[in-house]
Amino acid sequence: MGECQAGTITTTPEIKDVTKMERIGAHSHIRGLGLDESLEPRQVSQGMVGQVKARKAAGVILQMIKEGKIAGRAILMAGPPGTGKTAIAMGIAQALGKDIPFTMLAASEIFSLEMSKTEALTQAFRRSIGVRIKEEAEIIEGEVVEIQIDRSITGGTKTGKLTLKTTDMETIYELGHKMVDALNKEKVLAGDVITLDKASGKISKLGRSFTRARDYDAMGADTKFVQCPEGELQKRREVVHTVSLHEIDVINSRTQGFLALFSGDTGEIKSEVREQINTKVTEWREEGKAEIVPGVLFIDEVHMLDIECFSFLNRALEDERAPVVIMASNRGITRIRGTKYKSPHGIPIDLLDRLLIISTSPYDEESIKKIITIRCEEEDVSMTDEARDVLTKIGVETSLRYAIHLITTSYLVAKKRKATTVEANDVKRVYKLFLDEKRSVNYLREYQEQYMFNEIPADEEMEGVENIESMES
Ligand SMILES: Nc1ncnc2c1ncn2[C@@H]1O[C@H](COP(=O)(O)OP(=O)(O)OP(=O)(O)O)[C@@H](O)[C@H]1O
Ligand SMILES: [Mg+2]
Repeated sequence: MGECQAGTITTTPEIKDVTKMERIGAHSHIRGLGLDESLEPRQVSQGMVGQVKARKAAGVILQMIKEGKIAGRAILMAGPPGTGKTAIAMGIAQALGKDIPFTMLAASEIFSLEMSKTEALTQAFRRSIGVRIKEEAEIIEGEVVEIQIDRSITGGTKTGKLTLKTTDMETIYELGHKMVDALNKEKVLAGDVITLDKASGKISKLGRSFTRARDYDAMGADTKFVQCPEGELQKRREVVHTVSLHEIDVINSRTQGFLALFSGDTGEIKSEVREQINTKVTEWREEGKAEIVPGVLFIDEVHMLDIECFSFLNRALEDERAPVVIMASNRGITRIRGTKYKSPHGIPIDLLDRLLIISTSPYDEESIKKIITIRCEEEDVSMTDEARDVLTKIGVETSLRYAIHLITTSYLVAKKRKATTVEANDVKRVYKLFLDEKRSVNYLREYQEQYMFNEIPADEEMEGVENIESMES
């Protein structure tokens, strides 16, 4: 059953940008990978500090992605918690720019969606492949001289005439009722400069003509003035837009419709739809109308995938329409989900064999201090040097993440005593208020009898992660 006929595949959803609210997230200070032209990492740049080897490797990968020639490469970032794996992936995303798709997926997410795991992964793969479509549009561009609308006596059909001019010519166009409606909807008046897309009949207002600058009655406060266009009224213009394969799938799947793109409620997409779209896109590519832009799929916490997902990945990576897949894991040798076998990072050996591995290592004191300084700026917190030293020491002894979390909390404590700058004592106070992981574990050892569901024998070595893994089975 064909969901969409060949030739009528749509690629543009009519609503384009949904604005996202920007908050100060864990990685909001990262603006790129901080590399110079020759891909050498600068010590501190674009919010990135240290971790030089991994950043340089990421830069090479970035170059490969930008050139767009290689499909289906997979990279694993492996290293202890808090060593910047997710941060580097975010840096890659920032450096890619808008035109190359970047999709982020936490491996555990695919278990919570109302669709099969492989469908969720397929969608994530197709979200990460862009199709850059070149279209030549015929447009009419000119200043409106006059609009004349004739209503029939019954009021049903409307027709009219539209007079448009450039500095060189003037033409009268006959209007059908659709065009009359479109002009009304855009509130087009004489003196506006408009463009009219001949294929879709879409009208857009560019602004008011300078020659009409003195007609005060016809404008609001935000009126934009433009020159009356020159030359011919009819022009050809090339428009380029990039959409992901997944977006094309959703728009053309009759049961979903493009609105599903905004609710995220896309459900499962029929494989027939995908096949048709693949064929169409290949056709466009052969005709020179479209280019495939392989993007990036970032799968964080990849050890949470199970054996079925891993074998899906093995196969999906071999497709010519595969993105570059970047994975991250902080696990050592651990059980592969869905099996009783252990493997490095919880990833089966046959997949590991296809991966390029970038490793990250813990930060030294100097880097921790710099990261904390950057985060203070990002979170708009001013701090004395002494306080920063205390925080750095905490970062070295506990973890970078914990130290970062103490920035805003100690600022709140400082604010409470009506100060605007965080001092060492504020940091020490929050250090006592909030436990880090080590102190929390020690605390639990000491008081475990008082908690419910206590399963850890007093003498057993507790390795948080491994215990969660074994509890699961
Ligand atoms: N090189 C760096 N430069 C600047 N900020 C960094 C750097 N590395 C890490 N950070 C910041 O430190 C925090 C922890 O790093 P991140 O979340 O990337 O660690 P991770 O390796 O993904 O850890 P996990 O394995 O626990 O997921 C984040 O807020 C991150 O933005
Ligand atoms: Mg992470």
